[in-house]
Amino acid sequence: MSSNLPSGGKKLWGGNFAESPDARLEAFNASIFFDQRMAREDIRGSIAHVRMLGHQGIISPAEAAEIETGLWTILAEVDAGEAAFTITDEDIHTGVERRLRELIGAVAGKLHTGRSRNDQAATSFRLWSVGALQQVQAGLLDLRGALIEIAAANPLVVMPGYTHLQRAQPVLLAHHMLAYEAMFARDSARVDAAIRSANVSPLGSAALAGTTFPIDRAMTAADLGFDAITTNSLDAVADRDYVCDALYACSLIAMHISRLSEEICLWATGEFRFIALSDAFSTGSSIMPQKKNPDVAELARGKTGRVFGHLVALLTVMKGTPLAYNKDFQEDKEALFDAIDTILITLDVVPPMLRTARWNEERMAEAAVADFSLATDAADLLARNGVPFREAHEVVGRLVGTCTRENKSFADLSDAEWAEIHPVFAAQKPPLRAIDSVAARDVPGGTAPRQVAAALDTARDALAAEQVALDLDRAARAARFTPPTT
Ligand code: ARG
Repeated sequence: MSSNLPSGGKKLWGGNFAESPDARLEAFNASIFFDQRMAREDIRGSIAHVRMLGHQGIISPAEAAEIETGLWTILAEVDAGEAAFTITDEDIHTGVERRLRELIGAVAGKLHTGRSRNDQAATSFRLWSVGALQQVQAGLLDLRGALIEIAAANPLVVMPGYTHLQRAQPVLLAHHMLAYEAMFARDSARVDAAIRSANVSPLGSAALAGTTFPIDRAMTAADLGFDAITTNSLDAVADRDYVCDALYACSLIAMHISRLSEEICLWATGEFRFIALSDAFSTGSSIMPQKKNPDVAELARGKTGRVFGHLVALLTVMKGTPLAYNKDFQEDKEALFDAIDTILITLDVVPPMLRTARWNEERMAEAAVADFSLATDAADLLARNGVPFREAHEVVGRLVGTCTRENKSFADLSDAEWAEIHPVFAAQKPPLRAIDSVAARDVPGGTAPRQVAAALDTARDALAAEQVALDLDRAARAARFTPPTT
């Protein structure tokens, strides 16, 4: 009579099993120790399912109400940290049902009508993924805000721009910060795309083929805030594309943060001295009293490895699996959990590290004009006065060679020396200040202060709009996890 009760090592699926599961199988098979992270989403999915069962008359409205009340009780236990799941629960889906049975008795067994753990697991993880990605989005918006603040606070601060990590042409610090903002804005779009990919309801696909019960899939999808329902039951229980999408979005965020972190590490060296990180976001050495290390930037760079790893791991898990559900898919959880945790902890610390850093304007200005960084400006001046650019390049190249041999900079040259180099320079000397060089690059997307100010406005407006949209959607989703008051 009680052969399939999930107690004493017996499983929900134990009806046809004469022996109890081996402890080693149980330890290998169980996902409860990590998938209880999506307990709330699993319970909420069950609430939508049971409401629908009652509404459709598949179970009686009274039974549905009793089950729903029990589920809200379990959700409250989870929120209070009072829910106790054990290895015999196998996974969160089984654990919740076990607890429901403890609370309301045999009627709990009706919850699983017209449903399988396969569509249930996919539903829970999709809901969890949407919430997690929205947290990532909030962190990204904060990071973009920090970059925008630095750009706004330093409208005319110049620094060297590099190619091949060699000084190339001066740029505004604000332009450099907004370059990263542009990367993270694209990352925000990728996170949004990953959310859309996850926000589709597989519930009702059951084990693989759909169900014999007259369920209403649109009703559960709407209750849970999904945008749509999946269109093929086999695909719905076997698809983990949405997890790959999330891992890819996380990977690009990690990659971009890693590039920024590498620059912070460089800029904080005695060789560069462009930035001084605040004590609160630096660490010391146990032996060298003078050391101040950029551990935040280094760790942010280093943590990229595990995020990329999770993407490759899941792609590899998926590649040889036949339709439809396979237990292999259970490997999706830890991959995404750790990738999300890694991104969130990084997004927690990088923005304040940036906001509290001090920029060494003098040092950056000095470096911005060093190594003949204004040579292109001199060649451009010749070209603007009718000299073919290739010839202008040649003339200024020879000048750089002479100056290098004589250990002079452009600023050391007298008017007479300029006039000797080319007649054009007799009438007008090329720009010798980084700010003039920068101001001359007045094309859309260029580093002129006017262009950067416009880019800053655009970035700020986009950020504000995205923040409003995110806040509204998160509030609507949070409200779905609140019990009805009537
Ligand atoms: N814990 C499982 C997972 O993460 C749930 C689905 C189990 N389904 C099954 N048929 N055994 O994938």
